[in-house]
Amino acid sequence: MPIDMELEAVLRPTQYPMPPYPPKTITLANGKVMVVRQAVREDVPAILKSVHPCLFIERDYYDIVSARLYGELLAWYRYRVKSEYCLMGQVDGYLVGIVNGRMENEKVGMSYHTLAIDRGLRIGSHLFAAKMEYHLEYLGQEEVLIVAESPIGFRRWMIEYPLEATKIPHELGGGDSYLLTREIYFKAKPRLVVGDRPVSQELMAEAEAEIKFADDDTIRERIAGLKGR
Ligand SMILES: CC(C)(COP(=O)(O)OP(=O)(O)OC[C@H]1O[C@@H](n2cnc3c(N)ncnc32)[C@H](O)[C@@H]1OP(=O)(O)O)[C@@H](O)C(=O)NCCC(=O)NCCS
Repeated sequence: MPIDMELEAVLRPTQYPMPPYPPKTITLANGKVMVVRQAVREDVPAILKSVHPCLFIERDYYDIVSARLYGELLAWYRYRVKSEYCLMGQVDGYLVGIVNGRMENEKVGMSYHTLAIDRGLRIGSHLFAAKMEYHLEYLGQEEVLIVAESPIGFRRWMIEYPLEATKIPHELGGGDSYLLTREIYFKAKPRLVVGDRPVSQELMAEAEAEIKFADDDTIRERIAGLKGR
């Protein structure tokens, strides 16, 4: 279908210039090395292959978080959201976690979602820390607005950092936003933000060669355990 570029110019939101997130590696508790790197728009279809099986897992709110993340990534792919970014974690090329968010304006970041596809290794925690690192240290923002959709998310972000409660509505339409300020981030950084740079050429080449996705049963088992099948 031909695209009417004149109309597209109206439908497509403004994009702020966004400096790249420099990739890093994190050695997980099982000894495996996770490459954390920024996705490009063209990666979205490959990423969605790993998000799709999670739509049907009710355990720990995986269904709602995945459904929203799926829509947000599509909105980015189809140019229907302002200044979105996506960071991902890969182990041996396999996608093991995803985080996304966007710039509300130059100073304020809007955190969207965190999805850990392999569990028990704090992959979600490491990736959430990477996205806060991106907002504050690379986009140079003052603060990030965050809500939790699950009790585990609430424990991981609101309590572990800890974030500041506000009365500011969040774009996701849930409870009021919690705030990550520069002060909170830099205080939490030594505890929560880890990783080594630069990433070796071999690991980067493996991660970039293909965003591999595990089959549905493997993903379900990793997230919900054998009983979740
Ligand atoms: C929230 C989330 C990103 C945290 O990821 P994480 O830091 O890698 O943490 P895990 O999910 O591995 O573990 C969280 C807890 O679940 C439990 N858990 C770990 N592995 C598990 C498994 N295979 N099955 C069930 N529970 C498990 C543990 O009790 C762990 O508690 P801990 O705090 O003692 O470590 C992840 O749980 C997730 O993607 N949840 C669904 C989406 C979501 O809620 N996103 C956040 C929205 S605010």
